[in-house]
Amino acid sequence: MRKTIVEMLKNAGESFISGESIAGELGISRTAVWKHVQKLRENGYEILSYARCGYKLKDAPDLLLPSEVQIGLDTKIIGKQMEYYPSVDSTNRAAKALAYHDAEDGTIVVAEEQTGGKGRLERKFFSPRVKGIWFSIVLRPNFSPHDAPKFTLMSAVAVVEAMKRFNLKAGIKWPNDILFDGRKLVGILTEMTGELGKISYLVIGVGINVNISREEFPEELRDIAVSLSEINGEEIPRVKFFRAVLEEFDKLYVEVNDRGFDKVLERWKEYNITLGKNIHVISAGDGENFDGKAVDLNSEGALVVETENGLRTVYAGDVSIR
Ligand code: BTN
Repeated sequence: MRKTIVEMLKNAGESFISGESIAGELGISRTAVWKHVQKLRENGYEILSYARCGYKLKDAPDLLLPSEVQIGLDTKIIGKQMEYYPSVDSTNRAAKALAYHDAEDGTIVVAEEQTGGKGRLERKFFSPRVKGIWFSIVLRPNFSPHDAPKFTLMSAVAVVEAMKRFNLKAGIKWPNDILFDGRKLVGILTEMTGELGKISYLVIGVGINVNISREEFPEELRDIAVSLSEINGEEIPRVKFFRAVLEEFDKLYVEVNDRGFDKVLERWKEYNITLGKNIHVISAGDGENFDGKAVDLNSEGALVVETENGLRTVYAGDVSIR
């Protein structure tokens, strides 16, 4: 309802639009329109209103509200349903709860702030208010649990392609950290619920450091984390960037559903900064550590590492580049 009001106000541009025509279009009373307008104002919209003229949108907030993100969002599957939180413990936790209650393929949960953002390997993920894009997507692909890691690679490729639209470049460290100059810009956490041979749902959580200055990072992250605004030299409009990410994600998801992962793996290789490098591996299965040279990404999305004892394939884990 509120999204439609914002859409009507945006379409009206510089003109006023009467409460009566909004009410007529939505099939609600003028008082109900007024109440929605009040709610929008509370959410940061600047809406002018004059008796006999009606309403005019003066300014919209750079908040990741559905009424901002979904208008003009060009996707087939991703973001048709969206849940928004000013603050939440973890969007992955909230998305898993929605998925459990049958949320549809492509549903998004986004928050301005996470109070308990989760990283891989039980780490915490720094997610300050309105400074980043912290979101999770529920996917229900018709694939085997075996294929789940490749959806994570796909997500990293989508973010890098969104960055390209803003003339920003970054590299992917296997499996899915996005780095700039060795510092982390984006983290991705995929959680899966599956049955025998079939994914029930995936929750892909993505945390993008957007407008965080160096001083705003906690001291322990200052040398290992970076944000888009630091790279860009000025702030990035979060709503626009979020739309770009969702659109690139949607394109790849449609491609994967129709034709499989070939293109994703090819793009991943194009953007990766791991292959050809000497690395240290902490393998997730047995926690075993070893050194070697990353030589390939196989068709499963696993990393092939040349070690002194021959080739080893790492399906899950963490690598550091030496
Ligand atoms: C990592 O780099 O270790 C993964 C970080 C993933 C962070 C994102 S932010 C949105 C979503 N919600 C979470 O609690 N975590 C993911």
